[in-house]
Amino acid sequence: MIKVQKGQLVPLFSKEVIEKRINEIANDINKKFANKNPIFIGVLNGSFIFLSDLIRRIRIECEMDFIKTSSYEGIKSTGKIKTNSKIIRNLENRHIIIVEDIIDTGRTIQFLSKYFEKKNPLKISIITLLFKPKSYKIKLNIDYIGFEISPDFVVGYGLDYNQKFRNLDSIYYLKTLIE
Ligand code: IMP
Ligand code: MG
Repeated sequence: MIKVQKGQLVPLFSKEVIEKRINEIANDINKKFANKNPIFIGVLNGSFIFLSDLIRRIRIECEMDFIKTSSYEGIKSTGKIKTNSKIIRNLENRHIIIVEDIIDTGRTIQFLSKYFEKKNPLKISIITLLFKPKSYKIKLNIDYIGFEISPDFVVGYGLDYNQKFRNLDSIYYLKTLIE
């Protein structure tokens, strides 16, 4: 396994830049979902920091839940998506907002979108903090994107490399993996 030193983290988005963008997204959601009582569904593990910052800027009536998926071992997608938890509450005729840390190939969000469609919600919206347009392989529309980035591997602010670096408050490229 590749050993990563601290100096190999190349700054991409500072916590201030992230905060500003989350404020913009939250303002938009506050307007668009007023009186709709949406359910935010965070995709674990990666989205836990993004969702916790986002939800505290939401001023409208809303609810929150989580689903756990995994698709990656190291930096290579295994291509197989697993749900390690299920949403058991009734989602029928509800507005649901799936909250992702990052959308790469789109396999995870496609899987989740199908999973939630079966629960007959009124509408499914998708938010992701980061989006890699060059890697995206599917047609599904993403409603809110924090930042578009290159296909290189990033960590921090909830995003991991083999479960490490989730605790960093900013987002970094992992240099060893982009050279
Ligand atoms: P997708 O199914 O290919 O869209 O990948 C989605 C998942 O892969 C994300 O929720 C992340 O867990 C992981 N992932 C993709 N790119 C990165 C990255 O650059 N850093 C950390 N995790 C990533
Ligand atoms: Mg994820």
